[in-house]
Amino acid sequence: MSKNYQMPQFPKSFWRDGDLPAFQTATEDHKTDVAIVGAGITGITTGYLLAKEGVNVTVIEAGKILSGTTGHTTAKITAQHNIIYDELISHFGEEKAKLYYKANQDAVNFIKKTVHEEKIDCDFSEQEAILYTCTDEGAGKIENESRAYQKLGINGAQVNSIPLDTNLKTALVMHEQAQFHPVKYLLHLVKLFVKAGGKIFENTVAVDFEDGRELKIILRNGKKISCKQIIAASHFPFCDKKGLYFARMHVERSYLIGIKAKKAFPGGMYLSLDSPSRTLRATPANGEQLVLVGGESHKTGQGINTMQHYLAIEEFAEQTLGIQKYLYRWSAQDIYTLDKIPYIGPITANEPGILIATGYKKWGMTSGTAAAHVLRDYVLKKDNPYKELYTTSRFHADPDLKEFFSINADVAKHLIKGKMEIPLKVPEEVKPGKASIVIAGYGERAGAYRDPDGKLYLVDTTCRHLGCEVEWNEGEKTWDCPCHGSRYSVTGEVINGPAAMPLHKIDEE
Ligand SMILES: Cc1cc2nc3c(=O)[nH]c(=O)nc-3n(C[C@H](O)[C@H](O)[C@H](O)COP(=O)(O)OP(=O)(O)OC[C@H]3O[C@@H](n4cnc5c(N)ncnc54)[C@H](O)[C@@H]3O)c2cc1C
Ligand code: FES
Repeated sequence: MSKNYQMPQFPKSFWRDGDLPAFQTATEDHKTDVAIVGAGITGITTGYLLAKEGVNVTVIEAGKILSGTTGHTTAKITAQHNIIYDELISHFGEEKAKLYYKANQDAVNFIKKTVHEEKIDCDFSEQEAILYTCTDEGAGKIENESRAYQKLGINGAQVNSIPLDTNLKTALVMHEQAQFHPVKYLLHLVKLFVKAGGKIFENTVAVDFEDGRELKIILRNGKKISCKQIIAASHFPFCDKKGLYFARMHVERSYLIGIKAKKAFPGGMYLSLDSPSRTLRATPANGEQLVLVGGESHKTGQGINTMQHYLAIEEFAEQTLGIQKYLYRWSAQDIYTLDKIPYIGPITANEPGILIATGYKKWGMTSGTAAAHVLRDYVLKKDNPYKELYTTSRFHADPDLKEFFSINADVAKHLIKGKMEIPLKVPEEVKPGKASIVIAGYGERAGAYRDPDGKLYLVDTTCRHLGCEVEWNEGEKTWDCPCHGSRYSVTGEVINGPAAMPLHKIDEE
């Protein structure tokens, strides 16, 4: 049967489908007390909290504000982070597992309170978070997680029916959770931040820092930002070689589509824990209801043909809800730490002047908000009940060691594989709208993309982070690195770090 809807030709996030304010680029040296690198939920919320305390803060952003993962999220605000509490109890004990829940539930409550107090128009609504399974294996996991909820006093319960058309085995509900429009919410915080004296620079890339008598962030244009405190809120810390973060984290992408469904969406925020996992929730959109359906997680740069992921989600959406209109599709990536708890605090024990916050494993609406509070308290030298939970210097034999070897064996495999592969094509063979690894110039391995008008773009495929070879991402038309998740446009510009510098361009003619 032919479809009466069409997949959007280009990826575009619903949250960013509107006007955003513009800020200047830093073209001169600049001085501030606290310099925050990155304007996503972490950077903006931290800036807002510090400016409220009267601290002089400057935020610098490589592209436009909210163009990172925060602008491409699902924006469930919840402490239900998939199956986690049973695992946290077995690895770290009940006390830490309880702290993790409390930190995230505090974040839900903070967002709710801020939306009400500041009267923020951001489609905020309270919702239940629902984790469900259609398999016996999943049912066992939900039963264990449900017992963990009881032990930790989490407000939730196991249920045996949900209002979704699935072959349900069982589900676990967490009450008093929420959802919102993340860009509308954060633009309001930006307004309050600027009103309180905060400064923002866009199109301003941090490439390194100097650690002398005064801290200095070095920008790609050679200018410097002097400060007393640096906060790397750049998703992957822009200064990741300190503390070896590239060896302690991995990056996963996943995919979302925005549809007008044939069936009415019943409300609630759903996540299936089966493989492949699926996420669903609805949001108001121009007087109608847009249903967001997502999933298909994979390590960045290792997704084979990424269009297949959109097709798999479309098929699931059609089966579950029916698609009347297919309005948006986009994808994004997030970072996983060794033990699944974010790293928030000084970059190394010897460098209290540089703070980082990263590794939210696709739960950054609450983790980024919790991070902002912890970071604020580091800057103000105040106690915070969650500093110890998130400390960056932790290393547990189990599960960290196993994950450490798995991440780094994978990186080594891709580093070697990329260098050994011999390209079989030359640029002339690349058709309009297509890309390929080719031999170019004096026999160099190059990434070739030919746009629909026939213009050829050639880049050196060696990633500017640590030298792995990038791979083509057909769904987003980007060059993605399989090692630590850096992504580049067809012209070689950085879209996602940790790389801070663009791919080298190759002149063919
Ligand atoms: C598909 C998907 C769905 C998700 N759904 C949910 C959800 O439902 N609920 C939830 O809680 N979480 C969810 N998440 C996770 C959440 O969106 C992220 O954890 C969160 O947005 C990360 O925020 P951030 O501020 O750390 O990073 P970002 O939003 O990526 O912000 C970092 C900013 O730093 C900038 N930057 C990077 N390097 C530099 C540099 N060198 N110089 C200057 N600026 C720099 C970037 O341009 C970017 O704007 C999801 C993630 C994905 C991928
Ligand atoms: S992202 Fe680390 S080598 Fe490419």
